Amino acid sequence: MAGDGSVKLIDEKTGKRTDGRKFNELRPTKIEVGVLNNADGSALIYMGNNKILAAVYGPRELHPKHLALPDRALVQCYYRMSTFSVAERKSPAPSRREREISKVISDALNSVILTKDFPRTTIDIYIQVLQADGGTRCASLTAACTALADAGIPMRGIISGVAAGLVNDTVVLDLHDIEDQKGSGDIPIGYSATLDEISLLQLDGVFTIEQFEEAVKLAIEGAKQIYEIQKKALREKYALIRAEFAGESEEEEAEEEDTIEIVSQSLAESEASVDETAIDEVESEELEEKKTEEVSEVEEVHEVEESVSEIEEVSEVEEVSKAEEAPEAESVSEVEEVSEVEDSEVEEQDLVSDIAEELNDELDDEKELEEDITSLETGEPEKNNESITDDSSESVENETEHKEIDDLEE
Ligand code: CDP
Repeated sequence: MAGDGSVKLIDEKTGKRTDGRKFNELRPTKIEVGVLNNADGSALIYMGNNKILAAVYGPRELHPKHLALPDRALVQCYYRMSTFSVAERKSPAPSRREREISKVISDALNSVILTKDFPRTTIDIYIQVLQADGGTRCASLTAACTALADAGIPMRGIISGVAAGLVNDTVVLDLHDIEDQKGSGDIPIGYSATLDEISLLQLDGVFTIEQFEEAVKLAIEGAKQIYEIQKKALREKYALIRAEFAGESEEEEAEEEDTIEIVSQSLAESEASVDETAIDEVESEELEEKKTEEVSEVEEVHEVEESVSEIEEVSEVEEVSKAEEAPEAESVSEVEEVSEVEDSEVEEQDLVSDIAEELNDELDDEKELEEDITSLETGEPEKNNESITDDSSESVENETEHKEIDDLEE
């Protein structure tokens, strides 16, 4: 609730606020991402003395199911102030203020979440104010959207929440608790720097149009600065994850290198042993070859000797057999010669007989001629004269011929 602005919150000389900031200066802001292990996404924002934790679950099944939306996800936000978050103990029961802040934050996030990608599901955002120092709804919106991004919920843009207010008729950025309570008014906005879109705008107090425009402009500039902080926080987390992966990969690489070295050493040793064994094998093979060559040479010598001895024995046997067979051969040759002579004699006898037959035929022819001649000359029977004269001459010739035949037969 805004005050009447009577409390002096800005130094007239310096123009600085009670906490030393300029009118357009944000409180020291820091965001941590992924601070909860059991949430899908989480963020912790330190904005001045505000400490606000946001946790995101989903998209997940919705209970009760009758609340499910058929075409999109239901975004449910639960803004709670811890009992210890304020100076006076806060009742743990949800207040109207908490329900109102839960609704405006839920509506703002609904404008950027791609809810149609997850129909009939719910995306639950739990915001717990651990320590309140003014402007908790804006800081809660910033933390919630950063947690959504950490959870991987698809969004059109990142919303950054910050308020601008009127203090001592001065528009200032990011009011803290005293300025929020004693100032003339405040305008909390939710702004997406990437979309250049305002998703949340509330106003408490009385502003002129110029003051309103100046406040909104100042809040947008502040939101842009917060957006950079959100990006940095998200990048730091994933840079850490990347570094962890890189470290793991480096460790793995180192382990792989060690294993490679070990394997290479073992391989080298095995190769050396293999070489030695190979050398031994080669030497043994050479020795075996030499042995086999020597053995073969000896065997060849033995074979040659055996063959020589066999040849000698054979030659001796042949000589002996020749010696034994020699007279037989001589007798055979003689027999052969005798048979050849006999054959020639037979042939000669055949020739002689043939000649004798031819001579007998000729003699018969001559006798007949002489008989014919004598018969013609004497008128006697040819056969008697011829037979007398012829007998004498014939007998002489026959005797000579018979002598020749006898000579030939001999
Ligand atoms: O926190 P925000 O400015 O967004 O909302 P508010 O309703 O204007 O609250 C103003 C401030 O009053 C809060 O930031 C708290 O610091 C404080 N407060 C409190 O002390 N006890 C409460 N039960 C509620 C709010």
